[in-house]
Amino acid sequence: MEEKQPLKQPVHVGLIMDGNGRWAKKRKMPRSFGHSAGMNAMIKLVGHISAHTQETGVKYLTVYTLSTENLSRPAEELEGLFNLLRKYFTTNVKKLYAKNCAVKVIGDLTVLPEDIRELLIAGENNSPDDAGFTVIFAINYGGRCEILNAVNLAVEGGKKLNAEEFEKLLYTDGVPYPDLIIRTGGEMRLSNFLAYQAAYAELYFTDVLFPDFNEKEFDKALKEFSRRERRYGKV
Ligand code: FPP
Repeated sequence: MEEKQPLKQPVHVGLIMDGNGRWAKKRKMPRSFGHSAGMNAMIKLVGHISAHTQETGVKYLTVYTLSTENLSRPAEELEGLFNLLRKYFTTNVKKLYAKNCAVKVIGDLTVLPEDIRELLIAGENNSPDDAGFTVIFAINYGGRCEILNAVNLAVEGGKKLNAEEFEKLLYTDGVPYPDLIIRTGGEMRLSNFLAYQAAYAELYFTDVLFPDFNEKEFDKALKEFSRRERRYGKV
């Protein structure tokens, strides 16, 4: 008789939310319309994942919301994204707390408009302490910048560090490595997302454009993950 293996479950899932612009273009609408639809898709997805942490084992979701490169998008598009951030971090975030979910923000916040920076910091600080699920927003985030920042902090500290000490200097201190990274929108690359942490992550790429990426598509990715064999370089 075939022995039943326990289902492999990711604790931390990373999500590269790509394809908002193309989704809007298909509908002859401005890119900002796609980002707004993307935010709605993300809100639904977070609701779904946070409601099923017991069954799925997912305790962290990192969403690539704004890369360092995205900051050079046209001013109008960027302002639209900033307005979505303002909206999310004034209203939606409270609904997360009510469900015992926490918020964490990773990235270089120093160059963001001051009101947004304050909202993001408050979003993190007001989170419940005993949360069962955490949404991590990568905002003005770049993996290489994160590593460089950590290296500079280490140099300032003036002594050699082991991996454990070094990882405390990354934005993701206290968060486990991502087990699974999902990218929507058809491109097959990581685009500077969690460059250090993703070393052994399983990658899942789908052609679905992010605004159409729903609970069913997420569960498909989890199912695919459960079938993967992870060896971490061993035989
Ligand atoms: C990439 O799609 C997506 C982004 C640059 C922004 C992602 C943001 C959201 C999904 C919503 C924001 C959420 C909050 C909380 C503010 P793209 O524009 O590069 O798409 P394309 O490749 O089709 O052009």
